[in-house]
Amino acid sequence: MTQDEMKKLVAEAAISYVEAGTIVGVGTGSTANHFIDALAKIKHKIDGTVASSVASAERLKQHGIPVFDLTSVNEIAVYVDGADESNRYLHLVKGGGGALTREKIVAACSDKFVCIADESKLVDTLGTFPLPVEVIPMARSMVARALVKLGGQPVYREGFVTDNGNIILDVHNLVIAEPCKLEEQINNITGVVTNGLFALRPADVLLLGTQDGVRTIT
Ligand code: A5P
Repeated sequence: MTQDEMKKLVAEAAISYVEAGTIVGVGTGSTANHFIDALAKIKHKIDGTVASSVASAERLKQHGIPVFDLTSVNEIAVYVDGADESNRYLHLVKGGGGALTREKIVAACSDKFVCIADESKLVDTLGTFPLPVEVIPMARSMVARALVKLGGQPVYREGFVTDNGNIILDVHNLVIAEPCKLEEQINNITGVVTNGLFALRPADVLLLGTQDGVRTIT
């Protein structure tokens, strides 16, 4: 099985977590795209979706799936999204696609977070994948200096603007031994919108695509 076939496998497996008559939170990225395509097959069973990015909202609408603003929704039963890395505690690094802030908002107000990923994403220690940090543009240099003090090497993501009009710093060379602590520390830097660590609100379930099929980790 290729990496993309494993992504498709877990995306289809995540459909079993979708309950009829509910609002579904939808993530961003290539694995989430497979989930959107699978969701289209049962679109008549759900009330609609909340999307974590403009790109996902457009793909959902192309399938004729209703997309609501988060402000008009009371409850999201399940949020399904990919990840760039996960450890065994389901602490995640996300934001490779730059949608981390909206992803974190939708995850925060969902009853259940189902993460879908191929087996390459499971790691012992987070940090090999550079940690994305969304930053208010005028604070870029100031935040970069603060990230260096935390032991990282921030790299400006050239030519990229988030859906919220901000920039991304990708922080290299972090060995993230205490994900919850680092998530708080980075979020406390003035000028940071949020960072791609999902540890304070980790996933509830990880569906991992392997050569032997779907492995479920809780
Ligand atoms: C998007 O901003 C990210 O958080 C994605 O969820 C993450 O990068 C996983 O992407 P893939 O599903 O494309 O691997």
